[in-house]
Amino acid sequence: MRKKIVAGNWKMNLTKDESIKLVKTISTEIQNQNIKNNRIIIAPVSINLHAVLNNVGNDKRIEYASQNMHFANNGAFTGEVSASILKGIGIYITLIGHSERRVYFNEDTVLLKKKVDQALNNNIEIIFCFGEELEDRESKNQLKIVENQLKNTLFHLKDSDWKNIILAYEPVWAIGTGMTASPEQAQEMHAFIRNLVAKNYNETVAENVSILYGGSVKPTNAKEIFSKPDVDGGLIGGAALKAKDFAEIIKAIC
Ligand code: 13P
Repeated sequence: MRKKIVAGNWKMNLTKDESIKLVKTISTEIQNQNIKNNRIIIAPVSINLHAVLNNVGNDKRIEYASQNMHFANNGAFTGEVSASILKGIGIYITLIGHSERRVYFNEDTVLLKKKVDQALNNNIEIIFCFGEELEDRESKNQLKIVENQLKNTLFHLKDSDWKNIILAYEPVWAIGTGMTASPEQAQEMHAFIRNLVAKNYNETVAENVSILYGGSVKPTNAKEIFSKPDVDGGLIGGAALKAKDFAEIIKAIC
């Protein structure tokens, strides 16, 4: 049975001390909340992951993820982090394919596929991000674009790999813009994605994969978006940097 998940992507924000403080405050904000079978994942800046785990890793309800990971085991890749380096500090989840990586760092489907394979070979769970640009939606091409993004990076995987995949549909036009997809737009896309997984694999794989929505999720819209049958939670940017807002969004899946 798939889980509901709220994940926070802190992007390039917060120092070590600010990161520790924010996790502590979030932990306090949700201390009386029954998280049930749901998951909370936070992705701080990678250089701060170790300090965060060491200082606040005792709240087992919160899991931590890297925002990125390289496709090689190790080597001359200045500035990058590898699967073994992440595992060495106790990190077993990574984002791959965020639109900011695709746009600002030219990460294309060939590269993303290599990263996906590298993560899975190392038993690292992936939050795989994808989504269309505004012009794709305006020209009504969003379904085709999303289908291609998934086909080119994920549909070579085996059925059994999918237990380590979380999908995060993030329409680029909704990221950091305040322009959220409507609950109906999100549901339409999520149902389409689940159906694609069913067609390329089977109903069991499709029913078990969590599909998160990301893009201007806030306490005021989270509950309605998450109430849609194929929306299994959210990947949160700006609102994940505010303890009260993030806690409210977590409460929306509980
Ligand atoms: P915002 O919630 O700030 O729109 O960012 C979404 C996002 O990019 C999460 O990965």
